[in-house]
Amino acid sequence: MARIVAGIGSSHVPAIGAALDNGKTEEPYWKRIFSGFEKSQAWMRDTKPDVAIIVYNDHASAFSVEMIPTFALGCAAEFPPADEGWGPRPVPVVEGHPALASHIAQSVILDEFDLTICNKMEVDHGMTVPMNLLFGKVEKSGHWPCPVIPLAVNVVMYPPPTGHRCFMLGRAIRKAVESYPEDLKVVIFGTGGLSHQISGPRAGLINSKWDKNFLDSLSGNPQKLVKIPHIDYMREAGAEGIEMVMWLIMRGALDEKVDEVYRFYTVPASNTAVGHIILANRGRGGAHKSAAKSATKPKRSGSKLKRAAARVKTERISS
Ligand SMILES: [Fe+2]
Repeated sequence: MARIVAGIGSSHVPAIGAALDNGKTEEPYWKRIFSGFEKSQAWMRDTKPDVAIIVYNDHASAFSVEMIPTFALGCAAEFPPADEGWGPRPVPVVEGHPALASHIAQSVILDEFDLTICNKMEVDHGMTVPMNLLFGKVEKSGHWPCPVIPLAVNVVMYPPPTGHRCFMLGRAIRKAVESYPEDLKVVIFGTGGLSHQISGPRAGLINSKWDKNFLDSLSGNPQKLVKIPHIDYMREAGAEGIEMVMWLIMRGALDEKVDEVYRFYTVPASNTAVGHIILANRGRGGAHKSAAKSATKPKRSGSKLKRAAARVKTERISS
């Protein structure tokens, strides 16, 4: 059967994509951010997922204010990068996994979560920036390392779904994945956040204490987060901090108790806090166990890349 082996939380700041696309990754401001994902990329190469489910929000690219689905699942064979005002990002078309996506749609909808099914959809920085951060730079003429199933969540027009609804959807997605007969290793991303506000009198708001507490609870006590009302996200994490509810879909798809493989946090990136976490399921066997093991037990030999993966363990980097 298919199984979800790990969850990844990652900010999806558009300026990070622009820095990558314009060759600025070695500039000190951006290197501080990209270097925080080097170990994550090593972990991803070691884990080798067959499919990634990426929970993100569309930023008026695929959907306008005329029509905004609360949850929209991408069931297409491919998802082109959207033109967000200065041309599509120079990244490959994202290949989908229509068979698993359609299976998830059937299972989740029959479990009474009313997803919108998207058989044609462009994807924006909300999805492609976390892909770059975890998979590295991929030339436009190349291929992403695995197929992706996009799950777009409305967090741009009130009311977004509650944290509890997101968490329960994650559980339903896990159930769907585990009822898929093919042996597939799946990872799930929650993207967006962390604290930030991009307009109004509080533009530039960052609340690192809130972010740290969120990451701590996400790792060890997710039920604490499920109860947080929207107004608390808005008040404490800024208007766009509500994106963090999407991380609860990822967390709901994991075991109640997980291994925190890695964490990275830094501020600012374009007036936004950058947060990242990798959480691995413990008990279901498969290659993810060896990946998690290699993250905590250094090997005596091997490439620099493998040694980097071996050192991967919970880290907090603040600036
Ligand atoms: Fe966003």
